[in-house]
Amino acid sequence: MTLGTPLTASATRVMLLGAGELGKEVIIALQRLGCEVIAVDRYPHAPGHQVAHRAHTIDMTDAAAVRALVELERPALIVPEIEAIATDELARIEADGLAEVIPTARAAQLTMHREGIRRLAAETLGLPTSPYAFADTLDELRAAIDAGIGYPCVIKPVMSSSGKGQSTVRSAAELDAAWEYAAKGGRVKQGRVIVEGFIDFDYEITQLTVRAVGASGEVETSFCEPIGHVQVSGDYVESWQPMAMSPVALARSRDIAGKVTAALGGRGLFGVELFVKGDQVWFSEVSPRPHDTGLVTLASQRFSEFELHARAILGLPVDASLRRPGASAVIYGGVDATGIVFDGVREALLVPESDIRLFGKPESFIKRRMGVAVATADDTDTARARAKESASRVKPRAV
Ligand SMILES: Nc1ncnc2c1ncn2[C@@H]1O[C@H](COP(=O)(O)OP(=O)(O)OP(=O)(O)O)[C@@H](O)[C@H]1O
Ligand SMILES: [Mg+2]
Repeated sequence: MTLGTPLTASATRVMLLGAGELGKEVIIALQRLGCEVIAVDRYPHAPGHQVAHRAHTIDMTDAAAVRALVELERPALIVPEIEAIATDELARIEADGLAEVIPTARAAQLTMHREGIRRLAAETLGLPTSPYAFADTLDELRAAIDAGIGYPCVIKPVMSSSGKGQSTVRSAAELDAAWEYAAKGGRVKQGRVIVEGFIDFDYEITQLTVRAVGASGEVETSFCEPIGHVQVSGDYVESWQPMAMSPVALARSRDIAGKVTAALGGRGLFGVELFVKGDQVWFSEVSPRPHDTGLVTLASQRFSEFELHARAILGLPVDASLRRPGASAVIYGGVDATGIVFDGVREALLVPESDIRLFGKPESFIKRRMGVAVATADDTDTARARAKESASRVKPRAV
């Protein structure tokens, strides 16, 4: 692809659908390559809005609103940053030749719904996953568990992210509460849930996988070093890279990641979530875009996952190599307030080899991710300690 000059007739226009902290970093990477970037989110002054050429606030699940904005802005590329988008409209936009959807409209359709991606991975591709079933009613759910999933199991709304509406159920007595919780936590008002057998994994990883045009002129797959992470209530709190893995588990992880990303197709970076026990590996889910646990790559890789995504989508070559072991630790809001301030940033940055990102979100919630600390070291244990220390020194407060 030839790159143009922003704000002129030659501009390479890229539209981000979703402009949170991950989108913000993708936008910065695109800006550095001289793209003209349009950031879209559901609320004003979202992180990515603040660094784009133009910002729009629309309901991205509204097909007509998405269509109208694409016709107004005429981007060459549409880059979904979140799952909750009118993906059927993206498919029409792609079919009409209006814009290219990253990685593909079909990938966005399949991954916005747990059922689409799970059936593709397990049934079409034959990848190892937890045992699973789908249910529309509490009776169906109970029947599926009794018929083989068993306890403990994990119940999730089919459309949700960041652990919303998700619970682990240890016995039949807890089932009603889990069903109610899932019905409330789903993104769309519908009761459908997935129930998964609980995988007693040793650890879980994100295998960042990049599909980019290589020297051959064809799309080639590259793998970043695996990222280990800790999730609390389905939300990531810290991550590190590289995660030490057995050679067999690493090879299996990359085999699974290669297959699922090839099936989704297109160009871009994907976050493939995997569970590992000894040499056994299970596919969990995949984001066809940068992954929150991959924030660590801001410090650890030659090119961050955001820069890799930007390069891959523009048809440019990538280098997924690690520069130095690293870690990230989330900075939560800790308060419910707007326009908060952050004390302790100076102290945080005094931690060796550390850096922070404050996302600039206009409103803080106690459990909202407002920033992240990243750090590097000779080994990941030291990097983790540094990132956590740096994050803990940042003290958000209401004014
Ligand atoms: N079947 C399972 N067995 C064991 N643990 C699980 C299972 N499913 C989910 N978990 C745990 O819950 C976490 C969140 O699950 P999952 O990734 O499916 O939810 P999510 O809402 O899509 O989260 P996100 O959008 O933040 O990735 C997983 O990373 C894992 O720690
Ligand atoms: Mg997940």
